[in-house]
Amino acid sequence: MEVKKLLHMAGGIGKSSYASNSKFQEKSILAIRPLLEEAVIEVHKSLLPEKMVVADLGCSSGPNAFLVLTEVMKIIGKQCQQLGVQPPEMQLFLSDLPGNDFNTLFRLLDDFEECMKAEKDASSVLHFVAGLPGSFYGRLFPSQSVHFFHSSNSLHWISQAPEGLDNKTEHVPLNRGNIYIGKTSSSHVVNLYQDQFKRDFTLFLNSRFNELVPGGQMVLAFLGRKENDQNGPLNSVMEAISKLLDSMVLEGLVEEEKLDSFNMPLYAPSMEEAEAVINAQGLYEIVHIKMTEVNMDTIQGGENVAMSMQSVFGPVILGHFGDGIVDELFSRISKFAAEHLVKEETKVHFLAVCLKKKEQM
Ligand SMILES: C[S@@+](CC[C@H](N)C(=O)[O-])C[C@H]1O[C@@H](n2cnc3c(N)ncnc32)[C@H](O)[C@@H]1O
Repeated sequence: MEVKKLLHMAGGIGKSSYASNSKFQEKSILAIRPLLEEAVIEVHKSLLPEKMVVADLGCSSGPNAFLVLTEVMKIIGKQCQQLGVQPPEMQLFLSDLPGNDFNTLFRLLDDFEECMKAEKDASSVLHFVAGLPGSFYGRLFPSQSVHFFHSSNSLHWISQAPEGLDNKTEHVPLNRGNIYIGKTSSSHVVNLYQDQFKRDFTLFLNSRFNELVPGGQMVLAFLGRKENDQNGPLNSVMEAISKLLDSMVLEGLVEEEKLDSFNMPLYAPSMEEAEAVINAQGLYEIVHIKMTEVNMDTIQGGENVAMSMQSVFGPVILGHFGDGIVDELFSRISKFAAEHLVKEETKVHFLAVCLKKKEQM
């Protein structure tokens, strides 16, 4: 599956859209707000740019994209008032894959502008918003043109499910019974996922290094694993979905071959794994790196858990299996979540990273 062509969150503003089901992701953005504030203030204070370029990568099509821009604008407005300097003209980019519902995103622009007018700190800051389609696994901007990058809830999407997973040893698919790294996945499968993450994250960091101005920074937050083993929350969720898909194979609702050839293009690294990739490149100073926990209590009830998952994973599942099974699968997920997930205190681990571009030698 080529993520670049197929991936998008559920578009529109309806009941099952990402725009209506991203409260949990909003919570994770607010959890790293202090990090965002520190980084934006530092970049502005050290460079005092007349024009400042900021980009949110993997913005999707909901209000969270404008939440990030609102926060950046408030931080800059307040900082300039405190310093008694003229605010920079702000160029704000919202970037995502071409399949993203940019139309819905642009329709939210009016609300953002209203909000900016009412914000006492930000109302005087001249700004321009633009959408930018493209993959963050590659160049998106001219060299040394961006002061600050933000990306939340996106970098755990790798560019593709690892290629070698399609190889069948003695006609048995390598990751049979799993759609991600599960308890029965071999160490070879784990290595393939880890290698894909390393390649992709390296490419991401390299691309952003070229695009950042000297002194530029980025704040990234994405799903991670607290422990070094492969028993994180993402593993558990994907194992539950694998089992439900398997039960649908047994009932003849899903073709076995379809399930065997499906692997999620996701990877939630441990802090050590991510740090090793950053350090191997030596392009950035790590200003901050921490695994944080966010409680999923913003999503109450099995139906809401299932709807939230459908708004994120539904389009990928539909792309592979066709639309015949999606409603049935998520109705099963809803029942499963009502019985299991919502009774427990489900915590999700997020890796929060702030990186500063090192001076070129
Ligand atoms: C869960 S949404 C996050 C949206 C928003 N940042 C938030 O925190 O609510 C993940 C987004 O990452 C985007 N994404 C995944 N892989 C990407 C890539 N290679 N390049 C650009 N965007 C990507 C998806 O299309 C999706 O819109």
